[in-house]
Amino acid sequence: MRETAISPDNFVYPLFVTNGSGVRLPISSMPGCFQESADNAVKNAREAFSLGIPAVILFGIPEYKDETGSAACKETEAVQTAVKALKDALPELYVITDVCMCEYTSHGHCGVIRNGDVDNDATLELLAKEALSHARAGADMVAPSDMMDGRVGAIREALDQHGFSALPIMSYAAKYASAFYGPFRQAADSTPQFGDRLSYQMDPANRREALREVALDIEEGADVVMVKPALAYLDIISDVRNAFDLPVAAYNVSGEYAMVKAAAQLGWIDGDRVMLEMLTAMRRAGADLILTYFAKDAAKILQQ
Ligand code: PBG
Repeated sequence: MRETAISPDNFVYPLFVTNGSGVRLPISSMPGCFQESADNAVKNAREAFSLGIPAVILFGIPEYKDETGSAACKETEAVQTAVKALKDALPELYVITDVCMCEYTSHGHCGVIRNGDVDNDATLELLAKEALSHARAGADMVAPSDMMDGRVGAIREALDQHGFSALPIMSYAAKYASAFYGPFRQAADSTPQFGDRLSYQMDPANRREALREVALDIEEGADVVMVKPALAYLDIISDVRNAFDLPVAAYNVSGEYAMVKAAAQLGWIDGDRVMLEMLTAMRRAGADLILTYFAKDAAKILQQ
């Protein structure tokens, strides 16, 4: 009689990759998550894959940050290196890369700054170059998370022009300016050094706007559309599911994860049950895929 099923097959497991080898730095606000070099990312991904999790998404912690985020497109940087290592070691693992500038810019914004503000159009070119460099490294899908207008189209065009017309794009289509990203920004060292992301991310109070954002990304060529965050945005997941035909992804973000881990550590909630209830709710709302730091924890329970 149960209407909704969850399985490890629904999960995408996020990995924070860094340069070097033998690196495995715990992220204090996200217990169980690490900044790891490619060798350790392979070990982590192998464990996830053996638990039935088919896909990972990579976030990069680069060697250096500068005004224009130039490390984002470097062939030798953490993401590109990890993609190669993962595809070599685990060819069946589906490797997605997050495409954004905020991990690479010294100011922490998702694009280039002109006159004190993010310049949407100047950023598109950089994002397209970054996506292309991930594709060349062997990524199976690219996932732009910056929320610049027109970036899906710009990335699609660049990929098509360079022989990657079959490479799909998962767009962070309805991404809200949310406080739930706090622990991630610590993990990726990507907190904006001035201002906020309200000029390019969505207002949490807006529901109908999400459908406009998603429609635009689909028009530009998105193959999978994402709603982010997930827990406080189940209505949006449901709306998107009902309005469009494409696969819908939900991002169970860092703050959602950290709250459960912290309360469970204090003995205030049953962490495993809350985790499964949250993931089930995201599936019930209509998510086909869930990006979640819980992927391995949940898969271990679901496999029993
Ligand atoms: C941007 C990006 C962010 C997250 C994923 N991609 C942070 C932001 O927009 O500030 C957050 C994910 C999370 O909180 O788990 N590259």
